[in-house]
Amino acid sequence: MTFSGHRLVQFQKKVYDYYSLHRRKMPWREILSPYSIFISEVMLQQTQVERVISKYKVFLHVFPSFKSLAAAPLRDILSLWSGLGYNRRAVWLHRSAKIIVNKYQGKLPADQATLQMLPGIGPHTAGSIIAFAYNKPVVFIETNIRSALLHDFYKNKDNVHDKELMSLIEITLDKDNPRTWYWALMDYGSYIKKKFSNPSRRSKHHIQQKAFHGSNRQLRGRILKNLLQKVKLTKDDLIVLCDVHPSKLQNNLKDLQREGLISRDGDTYSIPQ
Ligand code: ADE
Repeated sequence: MTFSGHRLVQFQKKVYDYYSLHRRKMPWREILSPYSIFISEVMLQQTQVERVISKYKVFLHVFPSFKSLAAAPLRDILSLWSGLGYNRRAVWLHRSAKIIVNKYQGKLPADQATLQMLPGIGPHTAGSIIAFAYNKPVVFIETNIRSALLHDFYKNKDNVHDKELMSLIEITLDKDNPRTWYWALMDYGSYIKKKFSNPSRRSKHHIQQKAFHGSNRQLRGRILKNLLQKVKLTKDDLIVLCDVHPSKLQNNLKDLQREGLISRDGDTYSIPQ
């Protein structure tokens, strides 16, 4: 679809007007260091803003730099991560910090392609980090942005592909103020999502999050929680503590081990360094 220049300018004005009245205050919009932006964008990947805020503040207090994060035991990082979910992100963050310290002298690279080579950093997270940390006019999409555009430009269309939305993001981007523009666009999109039945359902890429209760995700969380409370546990200990069928436990232990979240030594499991 093509849109007139007038329509694009109108949209920019609407987003900035909304933002000037209703901007959301968030801690990662106040400290703009590449490190703090990096941490916040990884935390925000799959977790709601409200849940991230308190975790983010403690995390930054305990680990104020890539150097301190790289030097920390995984156990300490996972303890602070608890409550954010998708714990693999904590392992990736730890590995990324080590790469940034060892390969880039502790300084976060300032281009999207290099960031994308870090574990757990896809094109969109890389884009958001570059836009917010370095105020560069890169093009990326995330859930609030998707909702904003679907609502304003694709009202009666289903199965809209991100490729189409990315072109629209590119031509509506305020290239002189990318950081502020993306804050505004996300705030507007978040409002649209609350006010109207989530427009992202009309995206080709929309995935409904599965229920947490009774899920593998919940069991994985339980296994890690128990291992964080004790130094080592056997499979039999975990069967009792997690109240789970042995075969289900076994599958999850294998996954967690493969992902680097736990290690096995004979019969016992623990959190690796
Ligand atoms: N502000 C900066 N990054 C954000 C994000 N990923 N979600 C919501 N608001 C943000």
